[in-house]
Amino acid sequence: MSPRLATMRTSPEQQVEAFRSPSPWWRSAVVYQVYLRSFADSNGDGIGDLAGLRSRLPYLSWLGVDALWINPHYPSGGADGGYDIADYRAVDPDYGDVADLEALVADARRLGLKVVLDVVPNHTSDQHPWFQAALTDPDSPEASRYHFAPASEEPPNNWQSLFGGPAWSRTPDGRWYLHLFAPEQPDLNWRDPAVAADFEKTLRFWLDRGVSGFRVDVAYGLFKDAELRDNPGKYSPTLFGHGPEQAMTWNQPEVHDVWRRWREICDEYPDTMIVGEVCLADPQEVALYSRPDEMHQSFCFRLLKSGWDTEAFADGVRSALDAFGAVGAPVSWVLGNHDKDRQVTRFGGGALGTARARAAALLMLSLPGSAYLYAGDELGLPQAVVPDEAKTDPIFFRSGGARAGRDGCRIPMPWNDADGVGFSPDGAADPWLPIPTDWSGYAVSTQTRDGGSMLTLYRRALALRAAHPALGSGEATVETAGDVLTVHCAGDDETVRCVVNMGTETVLVRTTGTVLLASSTSVRQSAGTIALPANTAAWISED
Ligand code: GLC
Repeated sequence: MSPRLATMRTSPEQQVEAFRSPSPWWRSAVVYQVYLRSFADSNGDGIGDLAGLRSRLPYLSWLGVDALWINPHYPSGGADGGYDIADYRAVDPDYGDVADLEALVADARRLGLKVVLDVVPNHTSDQHPWFQAALTDPDSPEASRYHFAPASEEPPNNWQSLFGGPAWSRTPDGRWYLHLFAPEQPDLNWRDPAVAADFEKTLRFWLDRGVSGFRVDVAYGLFKDAELRDNPGKYSPTLFGHGPEQAMTWNQPEVHDVWRRWREICDEYPDTMIVGEVCLADPQEVALYSRPDEMHQSFCFRLLKSGWDTEAFADGVRSALDAFGAVGAPVSWVLGNHDKDRQVTRFGGGALGTARARAAALLMLSLPGSAYLYAGDELGLPQAVVPDEAKTDPIFFRSGGARAGRDGCRIPMPWNDADGVGFSPDGAADPWLPIPTDWSGYAVSTQTRDGGSMLTLYRRALALRAAHPALGSGEATVETAGDVLTVHCAGDDETVRCVVNMGTETVLVRTTGTVLLASSTSVRQSAGTIALPANTAAWISED
């Protein structure tokens, strides 16, 4: 790869142009993340599937989201929740088949919803035919598509797996191979052109079936240091992602050329987009993945990883707006996903965590950019306690039980208050992860009837966001005063203020504006003031 190709190609003029062009859907979309295995089971095997998701599309349309992103649906070795793919151009029989995916896309389109797929280019499953061929024959062309090293006492370098332990394991014949995640997820060698060519085929395969784009797993990976040198520091990611201590493993300059090529491919298909998972500590480095000729967006995980603290949230919002603004990309805000403890639990659990999660939802949905909602967060689901014997996450096993793992945020969705909460049809097998006995209280059917529920709050917020362009598409400025965080969202015709009280006492907010929505029913407005209780947010239209 020539170093010239790896440098920034975006001129200031291009960046300004990106600001001016008419706004495509993804710049302010609300995207709902479907954890497919846990969303809806149509055939009674205890596993969510495409037909189940299809039957629930009217719910997503009713909720008011613009698009859905589906966690991996591919045939998989099953070692990491589907992120170990054995065939990139097929559907796992647990989930259905390619015709089901096409039917889903068609139904979604009729409801005005776009479908975004997950794609995993950093590693395959060890069950993938390439890896199997490489195991059988070290001189096969497939072997050069991975990182193998000759048998020796010690692994080739000091790299660590993100799931715990060394990043190198041995093949049965004694060679080493690299896996930055589980041993069942061998890392691909992107310096072999056959790898890039095959992924281009995969992108086109799904784009030809009408999908609206891709969420790219580990988009800051793919290329590794060409000489596989030791990392300069110990593996200890900072709160917000990897930094210079892991400089040999992640964020190699060559990876940006992959995103330029993928962007060209997507540009052949109208209205498609790519959003990348880029877990780097420096927001400016993250934003570089979303320059106008690279991925359309890269996730901002600052709110997902910040505690309930005014300055932490304010800094997260400001740094993201600055970094993404500098490259002309929208920020893609995230408060929850399948890798992190549920918000309600992160923010303190119970009534306190719920109140804060409600307020955080209003904050995120006010900010300019796209917003990614994780299935079940609209119901206020807490992190579930999963018995060790039911756990499936490699993080739990590879840490010898020291880390709880991510199963607790991947529990099947409660749809109604029947036995089994409506996840599977009557008489079905047990769900693949146990559903806590009190979850019928969180069920969609229960919350739909409750004007004060989390679900009702989300639905109202999404409707208001659609009706008031200042929300989600305004020009935002952030201000803090003590425990109060305010975001001024200036639209063409209206300014909406999102005020969040992150402290422990009620605060009085001076305003002559109108409260569009509050996260709690105890917000009171009297002449010129709003009394905003602790852990509460309000949207106030100032014009
Ligand atoms: C990403 C996914 C996570 C997965 C990992 C390895 O971080 O979000 O679930 O375990 O990549 O593919």
